[in-house]
Amino acid sequence: MRVGVLTGGGDCPGLNAVIRAIVRKGVQEYDYEFVGFRDGWRGPLENATVRLDIPAVRGILPRGGTILGSSRTNPLNARDGIRRVEATLAEREIGALIVIGGEDTLGVAARLADEHGVHVVGVPKTIDNDLSATDYTFGFDTAVNIATEAIDRLHTTAESHMRVLVVEVMGRHAGWIALHSGLAGGANVILIPEQRFDIEQVCTWVTSRFRASYAPIVVVAEGAVPGDGDMVLKDGTLDSFGHVRLSGVGEWLAKEIEKRTGKEARTTVLGHVQRGGTPSAFDRWLATRFGLHAIDCVRDGDFGTMVALRGTDIVRVPLAEATARLKTVDPGLYEEVGVFFG
Ligand code: F6P
Repeated sequence: MRVGVLTGGGDCPGLNAVIRAIVRKGVQEYDYEFVGFRDGWRGPLENATVRLDIPAVRGILPRGGTILGSSRTNPLNARDGIRRVEATLAEREIGALIVIGGEDTLGVAARLADEHGVHVVGVPKTIDNDLSATDYTFGFDTAVNIATEAIDRLHTTAESHMRVLVVEVMGRHAGWIALHSGLAGGANVILIPEQRFDIEQVCTWVTSRFRASYAPIVVVAEGAVPGDGDMVLKDGTLDSFGHVRLSGVGEWLAKEIEKRTGKEARTTVLGHVQRGGTPSAFDRWLATRFGLHAIDCVRDGDFGTMVALRGTDIVRVPLAEATARLKTVDPGLYEEVGVFFG
């Protein structure tokens, strides 16, 4: 059989580890051939491919990014998109398609499977860890480690100058990276998209921290919003999904804190550093297991499914269910870490 593979959406550390596992097991155990589709759904849409065999996956396990390239192209938004995808799959005699992606990319995969009978298997990825059907997505652990290291470093410079340091991390809709890195890095305030924050309360925490002779670190997810919502209206822009996206919540916070507390404040925006570079050992382990199980789904003819982590087991869930809702931070969990604020 010939199996197609694509990686769509924002890249994330561990994508190459999945591709390597799929190809190694697929060739060695099942004698499959592979076709890599270039740049996510753009590949099948425009019939753009990449060679994908054992030599192509040699040495890629520790490499960040994806050897297949990625994009946010969505065939549902392209003229005749689904028909063009189907035509490419037929022309290239693709018996099964493994789609590695987040909410958007997998949403297309679910439609193709359910409405057009395409033999699709999904693999979840996102540094945001916000896919509900899986306990963890690979890329998240690496992003949290990068953010934690940054927070550790920012503590010493904050202390030297007795300043407030605001660290903006990724997370448009879910605060998992902020919560995990903030807790691991000993932040004094953590702000997440799930809970509107009160700028006055933030300033009270900041001030109490200075009173105890420490310089505060404020970790804020890029999607966090102040209670009155003013900033959204003033500074919100539409991202590539058409969602409202704040520009510069970190900068805004530092300015407000300076103005209201009289303390000097600086902002560090970690941005795409969180997505780049080599995956952590955990992400290589998870990505490899996802890849091995995805190719087993192909062998079993188990299509329209996605592999997922539940506890320490890899399970199969319907693709449609996997993309139905986002996994956000539970208020109880947020309250639990609140004991460290201020
Ligand atoms: O989905 C992961 C993510 O890293 C978000 O946290 C972030 O907002 C977004 O992707 C940014 O991606 P890009 O700049 O590639 O559009």
